[in-house]
Amino acid sequence: MYCIELKNVVKKYGEVIALNGVSFNINCGEKVALLGPNGAGKSTILKLLAGLLKPEKGEVLVKGLDPFFIEARKIIGYLPEDASPYLMLNVRENLEYIASLRGVDKDRVDKLLDFLGLRQYENTRIVYLSKGNKQRLALALALLHDPEILLLDEPLNYLDIPTREKVISLLKSMNSTMLISTHIMSIAERLVNRAVILSNGKVVWQDDLTELKKSSGEEIESLVARLMEDVN
Ligand SMILES: Nc1ncnc2c1ncn2[C@@H]1O[C@H](COP(=O)(O)OP(=O)(O)O)[C@@H](O)[C@H]1O
Ligand SMILES: [Mg+2]
Repeated sequence: MYCIELKNVVKKYGEVIALNGVSFNINCGEKVALLGPNGAGKSTILKLLAGLLKPEKGEVLVKGLDPFFIEARKIIGYLPEDASPYLMLNVRENLEYIASLRGVDKDRVDKLLDFLGLRQYENTRIVYLSKGNKQRLALALALLHDPEILLLDEPLNYLDIPTREKVISLLKSMNSTMLISTHIMSIAERLVNRAVILSNGKVVWQDDLTELKKSSGEEIESLVARLMEDVN
C-alpha cells in the first residue's frame, strides 16, 4: 500500500480548475518535493491530503484511508501555507493544547521549544510574534505527535538561515513519509529523494532528482525552471 495516493484528482474553486487530473503515489518512508510555479496547485494538493478539502473527482488516500477520517488525521502532521495558531494563547499554551488533544507527552513540548529556539517566547502571545517565530511554532505544532505522514507547505518560509539548516537536518533525520512543497530547489535537492513538478494543475514531470541531475549535468534550479517552461 502507498502512504500517499492521488488518482485522477480534479479540484475546482468555482470556475477555477486548480487541479486537472492529478495522479501520483508516494511509498511509505519516501520524502518527495512538490515543485511548481505560483498557482500550480501545490497548496491545494496538501489541503486535500490534510482533509481540509474534498476533490470534485478522483481519489485522495492516506495509507488507504480517506483523509477526512479521524484515523487518517491521527497519523498526519500538516503545516499550512499561512499557519494561524490560536492568537489569544501564548506559544506554550498552543503547544500544550494540541499536545493534550493528540495525547502527546509534555516533554515533547519542551523538546520542540528548545530545538526550534522558541524557549524565550514561550509566554508570548501569538499576536506579538514575528512571522519567523510564528512559522517555528507552526512547525512545532505539525511535528508534535511525530507523525507518520508529514505534509509541509513551504516549511522554510520566513525562517533565518541557521533555523533553516536546523529544520532541514531534523526533517532529514525523521523516518516519516513527507510531501514538501517548496520553491527553493537547492533545499529540495538536499532533503528529498524525488520530485513531482506541477504546472497549471497537472503533473508535468516526476522522477528521482539525483538521477536527473546526473544525466543532464545542469544545476537543479535552472533544470527545474526549464522543465516548467517547456510545458507552458
Ligand atoms: N480559496 C480559493 N478560491 C479560489 N481560487 C483559489 C482558492 N485557492 C486557490 N485558488 C486557485 O487555485 C489555483 C491553485 O492554487 P494553489 O493550490 O494555492 O497553488 P500553489 O500553492 O501552487 O501556489 C490558483 O489558480 C489559485 O488562484
Ligand atoms: Mg501554495
